[in-house]
Amino acid sequence: MAGPGKVHLRTWGCQMNVYDSERMAEALARDGWTETEAAEDADLILLNTCHIREKAAEKVFSEIGRLKPLKAANPALRLAVTGCVAQAEGAEILARAPAVDLVVGPQAYHRLPALAAAAAGGARLVETAFPAEDKFDHLPARAPARRAPAAFLTVQEGCDKFCAFCVVPYTRGAETSRPAARVIEEARSLVARGVREITLLGQNVNAYHGAGPDGAAWGLARLIGELAALEGLERIRYTTSHPGDMADELVAAHGSEPKLMPYLHLPVQSGSDRMLKAMNRRHTAAAYLRLIGRIRAARPDILISGDFIVGFPGETEADFRATLDLVAEVGYGQAYSFRYSPRPGTPAAERPGVDPAEADDRLARLQALLARQQAAAQAAMVGREVGVLFERPGRLAGQMAGKSDHLMAVHVADPALAAGDLRRVRITAALANSLAGVLA
Ligand code: SAH
Ligand code: SF4
Ligand code: F3S
Repeated sequence: MAGPGKVHLRTWGCQMNVYDSERMAEALARDGWTETEAAEDADLILLNTCHIREKAAEKVFSEIGRLKPLKAANPALRLAVTGCVAQAEGAEILARAPAVDLVVGPQAYHRLPALAAAAAGGARLVETAFPAEDKFDHLPARAPARRAPAAFLTVQEGCDKFCAFCVVPYTRGAETSRPAARVIEEARSLVARGVREITLLGQNVNAYHGAGPDGAAWGLARLIGELAALEGLERIRYTTSHPGDMADELVAAHGSEPKLMPYLHLPVQSGSDRMLKAMNRRHTAAAYLRLIGRIRAARPDILISGDFIVGFPGETEADFRATLDLVAEVGYGQAYSFRYSPRPGTPAAERPGVDPAEADDRLARLQALLARQQAAAQAAMVGREVGVLFERPGRLAGQMAGKSDHLMAVHVADPALAAGDLRRVRITAALANSLAGVLA
């Protein structure tokens, strides 16, 4: 018998949850757990959840309902809920879903193997206190099961911004930065395993201020500069940033650091100053536009991506039009837009909402504009030569698929290509959701 059994993981939400799932799988593997793709084979099913919008949070409970019959078939099976729903709802999950055995918040993942062992013995447990110790000091060194050429690396976690709509400051806790030496060490071990692209993660990643080996606090630009010196690491990205934390050095790095890719996710949420204030975003639309101007001056071909919320409490048609105006002015290469979802415990949840039909209509209008911009950005790539990191076989036989410097999906049919290849590609066509190209 090879250890305690098989674990099956399901992941919702942002890239940090993807990263966390990998780290949890690695921690469990050290204890002898093996990963399985099939929920029916598992002795432990781990649902790594997201609480950002109501729909995301509710999915978890329907999933638990679907998985419940597996417990009758395998009495050894334990069901664990981790992630932001675990943190937000804690013991209530055990009350609402009797099939759940274990609830573990994001700051306690290093305790997961011990908790899983206790759950296997029959205990029902909740671990959502923010522990005094740093989980990263207790998680095993990186040993990713999948040898993908692109990896995530959390450098900063939590948020002190308290945007009026957002649960993250409550589910992830206060903003903390990992020491620079730890980040570099982790990056080194990823590169030694064949990783060529690293995306630095944080809820507010550009507020990174980790302790440097020299005792000074390092900003994100300094950290990126240090990582760029790692031989074998070819591409660096970071997400997600807040416009208020875009330091001059970081803007400048986009012009001076060739390994820093020309893509920046910089959410603004709304183009109306009245809404930005009500959202507690702490900047104006004009300040955001000026910042975009400075970033584009540093790196003219940078592709800007954003997040938007429509139908925030108090939003009028005029406020919404200000958002459309801002979008028209920026020209996004990629964007995510959402209808406002009231979240328990956040200040905005108490405010009277916008008529749902009106909000839906605005979302459709905004998404139509953003889709046009995205299509234009894709079409503008045709004829250009770009870098592509190939990650996996494409949908058609003989194809390899990967991401361009601008984070667009690209596929190329060429028998010489293998996963992990970083090649120059001439883009020949823009399709619905990807680009086609040939090796340059
Ligand atoms: N830390 C990041 C992202 C937070 S969540 C940041 O500060 O930008 C990702 C996106 O979800 C947000 O940018 C926002 O557009 C959206 N979002 C967050 N809370 C929401 C809510 N209550 N309703 C609708 N969308 C929301
Ligand atoms: Fe949420 Fe705002 Fe923090 Fe982003 S900056 S995680 S939207 S509170
Ligand atoms: Fe969701 Fe938590 Fe990420 S709420 S978006 S999984 S930080």
